[in-house]
Amino acid sequence: MRANRSLLFGLFCALATAILVDGQSQSGYISIDCGVAPNKIEKDIVTGIYYSSDDSFITTGVNFNVSEEYGYPKNLFLPYPLADLRAFPQGNRNCYTLNPSEGKKNLYLIRASFMYGNYDGKNGLPEFDLYLNVNFWSTVKFKNASDQVYKEILSFATSETVYVCLVNKGKGIPFISGLELRPVNSSIYGTEFGRNVSLALYQRWDTGYLNGTGRYQNDIYDRIWSPYTPVSWISTKTTEYLDIFQSGYRPPDEVIKTAASPKSGDGPLEIVWTSEDSNARFYAYLHFAELEKLEKNESRKIKILWNGSPVSETSFLPSSKYSMTFSNSRAFTGKDHLISVQKTEDSTLPPILNAIEIFTAQSLDEFFTAIEDVHAVEDIKLTYKVNKVWSGDPCSPRLFPWEGIECIYNNPNYHIKSLNLSSSGLQGPIASAFRNLKFLESLDLSNNGLQQNVPEFLADLKHLKFLNLKGNDFTGFIPKSLMKKLKDGVLALSVDDRNICNSHSCEDKNKNNMVVPIAVATSVIVLLVILIIIWIILRQRKRRGNSRPGPLLPSGKRRFTYNEVSSITKNFNKVIGKGGFGIVYLGSLEDGTEIAVKMMKDPSSTKPQLPSSSSPASKEFQVEAELLLTVHHRNIASFVGYCDDDRSMALIYEYMANGNLQDYLSSENAGHLSWEKRLHIAIDSAQGLEYLHNGCMPSIIHRDVKTANILLNDNLEAKIADFGVSKVFPEDDLSHIETVVMGTPGYIDPEYYRTFMLNEKSDVYSFGIVLLELITGQRAIVKTEDGDKISVVHFVEPFFEMGELEGVVDPLLRGDYSLDSAWKFVEVAMSCVRDRGFNRPTMNQIVSELQQCLAAELAREPLSHEV
Ligand SMILES: *[C@@H]1O[C@H](CO)[C@@H](O)[C@H](O)[C@H]1NC(C)=O
Ligand SMILES: *[C@@H]1O[C@H](CO)[C@@H](O)[C@H](O)[C@H]1NC(C)=O
Ligand SMILES: *[C@@H]1O[C@H](CO)[C@@H](O)[C@H](O)[C@H]1NC(C)=O
Ligand SMILES: *[C@@H]1O[C@H](CO)[C@@H](O)[C@H](O)[C@H]1NC(C)=O
Ligand SMILES: *[C@@H]1O[C@H](CO)[C@@H](O)[C@H](O)[C@H]1NC(C)=O
Ligand SMILES: *[C@@H]1O[C@H](CO)[C@@H](O)[C@H](O)[C@H]1NC(C)=O
Ligand SMILES: *[C@@H]1O[C@H](CO)[C@@H](O)[C@H](O)[C@H]1NC(C)=O
Repeated sequence: MRANRSLLFGLFCALATAILVDGQSQSGYISIDCGVAPNKIEKDIVTGIYYSSDDSFITTGVNFNVSEEYGYPKNLFLPYPLADLRAFPQGNRNCYTLNPSEGKKNLYLIRASFMYGNYDGKNGLPEFDLYLNVNFWSTVKFKNASDQVYKEILSFATSETVYVCLVNKGKGIPFISGLELRPVNSSIYGTEFGRNVSLALYQRWDTGYLNGTGRYQNDIYDRIWSPYTPVSWISTKTTEYLDIFQSGYRPPDEVIKTAASPKSGDGPLEIVWTSEDSNARFYAYLHFAELEKLEKNESRKIKILWNGSPVSETSFLPSSKYSMTFSNSRAFTGKDHLISVQKTEDSTLPPILNAIEIFTAQSLDEFFTAIEDVHAVEDIKLTYKVNKVWSGDPCSPRLFPWEGIECIYNNPNYHIKSLNLSSSGLQGPIASAFRNLKFLESLDLSNNGLQQNVPEFLADLKHLKFLNLKGNDFTGFIPKSLMKKLKDGVLALSVDDRNICNSHSCEDKNKNNMVVPIAVATSVIVLLVILIIIWIILRQRKRRGNSRPGPLLPSGKRRFTYNEVSSITKNFNKVIGKGGFGIVYLGSLEDGTEIAVKMMKDPSSTKPQLPSSSSPASKEFQVEAELLLTVHHRNIASFVGYCDDDRSMALIYEYMANGNLQDYLSSENAGHLSWEKRLHIAIDSAQGLEYLHNGCMPSIIHRDVKTANILLNDNLEAKIADFGVSKVFPEDDLSHIETVVMGTPGYIDPEYYRTFMLNEKSDVYSFGIVLLELITGQRAIVKTEDGDKISVVHFVEPFFEMGELEGVVDPLLRGDYSLDSAWKFVEVAMSCVRDRGFNRPTMNQIVSELQQCLAAELAREPLSHEV
């Protein structure tokens, strides 16, 4: 039937339209026809897009075809992926896992399609919710069984994996017919929102539509443009060349080369809609190009209004050479909406509109489960082949955590606090992955087939209050450490009687060496000898510097040998930096990813000398390597791997194309660093530090915050680097620790200098200096006209006290910033460098204050114009 369907479809297409040949590449596209038998790839003859089956993207669900009445061949016009579907009778939340080839930090268009088609013969229309990652996307509802529902969203990926989840609300079984993902140029659609929202499509209209397919291959991003021309409008078109590549938006030729104008000559073009939700926030993107040849005495000048107030402050002339796109930088809110495209008084020609897209903003306000917990629970799922619907993020969205899991919802990372795997058919020993669920309070493993000894490490779970091990096949006794917790009343422990040591006899057995039979003693000695031999062999291998399996690295991270490091840096060919710690080289991995390699010592030195393990450099290395392995955040320089064989020690990071902030601020690039960009850099780095202080267990004090330790990638996103001198907080220690003073002159907290007491507020002081450098463009230590060297704090102070902003802000900005924003920024910076740590804000407060600065700056300019 499937073959027939394609054939019929093909025939129909050959008759009705020209068959498209494979043209532009579908590179980066993910196109899934949900509900097809595994391992199939089929081409949609209408669009030329190749769809694959969904078995490699999801493991749950059941395949169905729509009922005969709605499918092929009865319904020849049924668009491609709608004839079959995958339904999810089990589990609250079922997720597709997509790994786009362009990876994170990219904008993607994601489209899901649905048609019920009475696939289950029940004639009931289900209603369910769609989530993108952990955030709500949309509700899916149907008017009738043949209603075709498309949901589309533009979202910026913050991790390598994108989850599309269907959530059962108790109003029918969720299903999905098709799922598509397209990479989109990341510099369009909402860069102005600072990436804190996704844009869900409301309408996308080709106004003045004449003909065309309205999507791929004409549209490289495969947007679907619907025709829209009310009766009071007329259409015009051009066959002239128009440059659609000038802007990243690239509206397809067939869309931009037709336009609507009012029939009545001088009237406006009006687009009206009513929102069911008066809190919805709308963003509109209007595309323009001049299609007529204008005489010398003619002009077409246009202004855009929303509910009577201007969207663009100035009017504009559409270009006949290229397409232009306008959008509102402040959201349209309320119930009733009217966008009016009008001619200005001095325009001789009526207004035109070539295309319009309207989106609603979806907040990204949910957080993800902490990565350590995700790894641990994924590990458990794999080890025991847990037979539950466990997909997407374990804790989030908080209404629908994984079955058997409860979480602690502390921002910005959620942790698993309770895990119930009772009667889940678990076999084998208790996996060590459990010990990584550091926040676990309750663990129910009752009624499984678990074997061997109950491991000691369960007692290391500090927060564990409830543990049920009943109904398993454990051998031996419960470890004493756990029994002690039970006796101390800190742990409620349920366990089968035979695993409890009731009399002294069992405890004594362990202690009483005297009665150990000779045979046992001999075998222990033999065992010891074998262990020693193995140990010696392993040590020798290590000496030879062979690559060897080291401690397990988190997935994606790697341990490198000296030879590998030498090869990925093309024999230490290009130096990109020098630090207190060593030289930094540029390299690239097999897949082309560019990386920075930080070497401990000069690799070109012919005599390799081992840094002794007690030398400060080596210690610094170990501190950094160990810390980096535990830290994962968008604003922390990400760690690719390390090398510590005998010839060298190296740390390998992602490569940051724009170097460090200190160099950037003193380069000619600083001239292009707008106020908004400076604010983004400040917020990024504040978030990185905030994560070190509050998101890490134990909390991390950086101790060397400075502009040279803030790196910028090619999008000028900032990341904190260099934990060389960081020191992990002892977990339940006081709020400060005593150390020798470390850090960089100009950045050191004066209180720390006086008292040798270190806490988070010392980082806050240094960060204040960083903010002052961003504001003023000066270095941490400023040279005055009379040759004195003073701290940037003392440089700013007099102006600050007199309220003279111009004296403070970097002259390179030429006054191009919001005064409100600038004042607030200076105030935040000055509050960070207050004398007493106690009076300084926390990183948390700083992040939110800086976000307000950004909001003030963005509110300044209602016009956002991109050609
Ligand atoms: C759907 O129809 C195709 C083509 O007739 C068939 O091969 C497939 O097995 C059907 N799928 C299901 C789940 O019935
Ligand atoms: C089903 O609903 C769609 C969308 O409202 C409508 O266009 C179509 O005519 C309806 N079909 C039937 C058979 O009622
Ligand atoms: C519609 O497209 C066809 C083929 O591209 C073209 O020949 C025809 O002129 C177009 N019609 C209009 C009204 O533009
Ligand atoms: C994305 O769009 C920008 C302009 O908005 C352009 O400079 C850039 O080259 C585009 N990138 C790609 C990959 O097309
Ligand atoms: C512009 O000039 C043309 C003749 O060159 C004339 O026909 C037309 O009416 C003029 N239009 C306007 C708006 O003045
Ligand atoms: C775990 O789940 C089982 C059945 O689903 C239930 O009987 C038991 O009480 C749960 N355990 C905890 C600790 O909630
Ligand atoms: C997103 O950022 C903008 C500008 O910074 C701000 O106005 C808005 O409130 C933010 N939205 C959310 C949901 O955080």
